[in-house]
Amino acid sequence: MTLLSVQNLRAYYQTQAYGISRTVRAVDGISFDLLPNEVYGVAGESSCGKTTLIKVISGNAKPPLKVLEGSVNYTFGERTVDMLRISQSELRRNVRWKQISYVMQGSMSVLNPVRKVIKTFQDIVDTHEHIKNKNEFLERTRTHINRLGLPAEVLNAYPHQLSGGMRQRVAIALATVFQPALIIADEPTTALDVVVQRGVLQMIRDIQAMSSNTVLLVTHDMAVHANVADRVMIMYAGRIAEEAPTESIFNAPLHPYTQHLINSLPVIGEKSTKASLKGSPPNLADPPSGCRFHPRCPFVMDECRTVVPDLVSVKERHRVACHLVKEDSL
Ligand SMILES: Nc1ncnc2c1ncn2[C@@H]1O[C@H](COP(=O)(O)OP(=O)(O)OP(=O)(O)O)[C@@H](O)[C@H]1O
Ligand SMILES: [Mg+2]
Repeated sequence: MTLLSVQNLRAYYQTQAYGISRTVRAVDGISFDLLPNEVYGVAGESSCGKTTLIKVISGNAKPPLKVLEGSVNYTFGERTVDMLRISQSELRRNVRWKQISYVMQGSMSVLNPVRKVIKTFQDIVDTHEHIKNKNEFLERTRTHINRLGLPAEVLNAYPHQLSGGMRQRVAIALATVFQPALIIADEPTTALDVVVQRGVLQMIRDIQAMSSNTVLLVTHDMAVHANVADRVMIMYAGRIAEEAPTESIFNAPLHPYTQHLINSLPVIGEKSTKASLKGSPPNLADPPSGCRFHPRCPFVMDECRTVVPDLVSVKERHRVACHLVKEDSL
């Protein structure tokens, strides 16, 4: 059983300025599945397309972002949802918050800065026709907040009165009141200090354990994935470089880019400086030919410059796109 099936998804930003058109190939041929009751991590350096990917799969793609190709299909129990064809009203009425919640990058964006937290909660109720009784909803919200260990006073605060960590926890609490099948959190711990990060991650774990829903956790921080994710997708320049259970990603990474991300994690007690990878991720308006990682790859070969590597399965649930790794070689 799968919760979400994404096939060959291509989504580009197409802009026009001064008569010059520009295409940013931010999501360029991505296929993956999400299973019920798993924490799925999406990793990769800044600008590799992580936020763009979740905008599309959560039904939040707006111009200049355009979906050119592919499919995004959900199965919620008996119901299936084709995210690329669903109407906005249907999305608002039956899917958003109820089945899919999206905690956007930067928690302030969920909470309205000029409204008390409780009012933001009510705004959500107003868009949900299936909740007829507001008192019942408020009671449900209070219980939910309580269960997550947040003080009841947060509901009467303005967002700016809360610390960054508390704001993020409130945003996550808000997103999970309806116990959605899928919770998408984009960089929920970035910009928080390590101790606060731990609290936010623990809360995500608690929610997942309580409701057995699926969490899609997007962060460039590999240490967070190591702690929370069941499986991890490594994105590079709009494509999947590698996908595997977290243990395989960290213990047996096959793609040179994954190896680089893991090797750059700090190790306690280690004094030597880490060898860093040369260059930076490519401009997605003009990405390199062949394997997009080839200009930075320490193992680059001729074919890497011209041939796009297929994403092949090397083991059960372990996929890699690298010419060094052949499907039949393992
Ligand atoms: N509205 C936009 N118009 C044009 N290009 C955009 C727009 N939003 C993002 N991009 C480009 O799309 C590419 C992917 O961006 P995206 O935000 O998906 O990356 P990301 O992996 O989420 O990065 P980060 O880790 O910094 O959040 C980047 O090259 C970015 O500049
Ligand atoms: Mg992002």
